[in-house]
Amino acid sequence: MKWKLVADYESLSSHAAEILLWAVAENPRLVLGLPTGRTPEGMYARVARDCQREYRCFREVTSFNLDEYVGIPPSHPASYSSYMRRALFDHVDMEPPNIHIPDGTAEKVRQRNPELSFDEGLEIECANYEILIERAGSLGLTILGLGRNGHIGFNEPNTPFDSRTHVVELDPMTREANARPFAGEQVPGRAITMGIGTILESARILLLASGESKVEAVTRLFSELPSDDFPASALRQHHDVTILVDERAASRIRGALD
Ligand code: F6R
Repeated sequence: MKWKLVADYESLSSHAAEILLWAVAENPRLVLGLPTGRTPEGMYARVARDCQREYRCFREVTSFNLDEYVGIPPSHPASYSSYMRRALFDHVDMEPPNIHIPDGTAEKVRQRNPELSFDEGLEIECANYEILIERAGSLGLTILGLGRNGHIGFNEPNTPFDSRTHVVELDPMTREANARPFAGEQVPGRAITMGIGTILESARILLLASGESKVEAVTRLFSELPSDDFPASALRQHHDVTILVDERAASRIRGALD
């Protein structure tokens, strides 16, 4: 794992945006794995701004989001579909058929197969997501945030490292950390997430960690051997991972990074 320390959130966002835009410039047909949450908001804002100045940055790019809540439709304001439209897709020239986000209602699957239960529909939604990633030629660059408990995507502690896209029960800590966009409404208890095995097949991985709330997770990522009680430690098994971390998140390992 390569560690890159930057001063603050601003700097983390512009470095991440630069890495993403360079990767697209190098390979205009890049297949991206994309995160949501607070951390990448600044990165997306910069990418959207810079891409609008350029001609056709994302025209041939394909994207797969890491996760989506179960039980809310893509049109729900707190869905990750809505997040991605607001943060990036409404501002860049991606072709809608190249954008992929799991559907936490599996609506199309269940319309095609009315005999399926809701959960059976979700299982097929997950299996189809894997097929779509494979057909796209697998992930070229996957960008990750870091959960306080070490989750990547929504792979909570004790998820097997070879897991594929699946339905997860969200940890109470994860639901609490993600409550803001739900504005008082209950945060769904389940989500669909790309598996750790799926993420590890990405050619390159960039993980972003910013702020005091990530100190514990960053310290563990820096110091612990791979173990499934800390999902991000799976990244040690990958040959091309960059951890982009700001001073606050890296406060306990600062000395070791110089
Ligand atoms: C979201 C995702 C999660 C977040 C993580 C950190 O798509 O995959 O792993 O990256 O929960 O979230 P923030 O950035 O809000 O601290």
